[in-house]
Amino acid sequence: MGPGPSCVSDSVYNALAQSTLGHLDPAFIALMDDIKEFLKKLMGTDNELTVPVSGTGSAGMESCFVNLIEPEDTVLILINGVFGTRMEDVASRLGAKVDSLNFDWGTPVLLDQVENQLMQKQYDLVAVVHAETSTGVCNPVKDIGQLVEKNGGLYLVDCVTSMGGMEVKMDDWHIDALYSGTQKCLSCPPGLSPVSFSGRAVDKLTNRKSKVPNWYLDLSMIINYWSGKSRVYHHTAPINMLYGLYQACYNILDEGLHNVIQRHRDMHNLLVSELMTIGLELFVEESERLPMLNAIKIPEGVSDGDVRSRLLSEFHIEIGGGLGPLSDKIWRIGLMGETAKKESIQKLMYAFRKILT
Ligand SMILES: Cc1ncc(COP(=O)(O)O)c(C=O)c1O
Repeated sequence: MGPGPSCVSDSVYNALAQSTLGHLDPAFIALMDDIKEFLKKLMGTDNELTVPVSGTGSAGMESCFVNLIEPEDTVLILINGVFGTRMEDVASRLGAKVDSLNFDWGTPVLLDQVENQLMQKQYDLVAVVHAETSTGVCNPVKDIGQLVEKNGGLYLVDCVTSMGGMEVKMDDWHIDALYSGTQKCLSCPPGLSPVSFSGRAVDKLTNRKSKVPNWYLDLSMIINYWSGKSRVYHHTAPINMLYGLYQACYNILDEGLHNVIQRHRDMHNLLVSELMTIGLELFVEESERLPMLNAIKIPEGVSDGDVRSRLLSEFHIEIGGGLGPLSDKIWRIGLMGETAKKESIQKLMYAFRKILT
């Protein structure tokens, strides 16, 4: 019940354990094609360039920046937590001219400030995190998309924690590049990062003046393995991880994406009402909260470390602590994918009652 990895279902473990096919085996290529279609549904896009990048969510982040940014490009990063800060670091390493707008950790990105900034300067790319896992805040990705569209640059959104647990509509929200991760609401072990590029993003990639500065993440080469009649080897695909991702996406679509999103919302509401019965308060305002990542204020006089180590050793429950400035101030309780179930909440509340009262 931490901020990811989440619990993995038996069906996904079974999928991971199937025999390893060759990476150019026709049966495996058919499975790759299905995965692309599954991912498009979860992202809300028709984008042709939709693939799982080998590596965790940060590989997806890095692949978006290395493919879409050239030295001297102007980039705006909207930051209200750890993962916005990481984007700033990644973009700066590529020689881009990076501006950032910083917002308080625990509150969302403010639209009027973004609008002001975009009125003053034209950006090649604007980036934001949808679900800030470090704080439990949901950013207004749809509204930011409308502002970025007027400004004319590409719009990049981190959906590592949001995808598969809340609404993500890549095409409707004018998102040009999106990446996610497997270990959050997809409930698959960590190791793959689904990425999608719009037509505009693909144009930017194909019209680059310089080569993509990272060979392993160069999507202009990777795409020749993931599409077309005859596939071209780039790197050996992590075959069994892709079986796991196939099954994880299948499970969500089988339950119904709409139902899965509703389940996350219902479990969040249940957790909040249970926490209130023992006097625990949420860190984020109600309308700005994520359903899958619940940030709880640590009560005065309670030791963060003691509570979390007792939860783990006596009750076998993991929750997360705060990061950076929020260290010792909040707990982060994940209700992601397979973990977003009544049983998880009942077990956690039983343990909290024993430890805290
Ligand atoms: C919002 C967000 N972005 C990016 C990442 C980085 O993903 P990973 O740790 O899988 O590389 C995480 C990981 O927790 C995340 O929560």
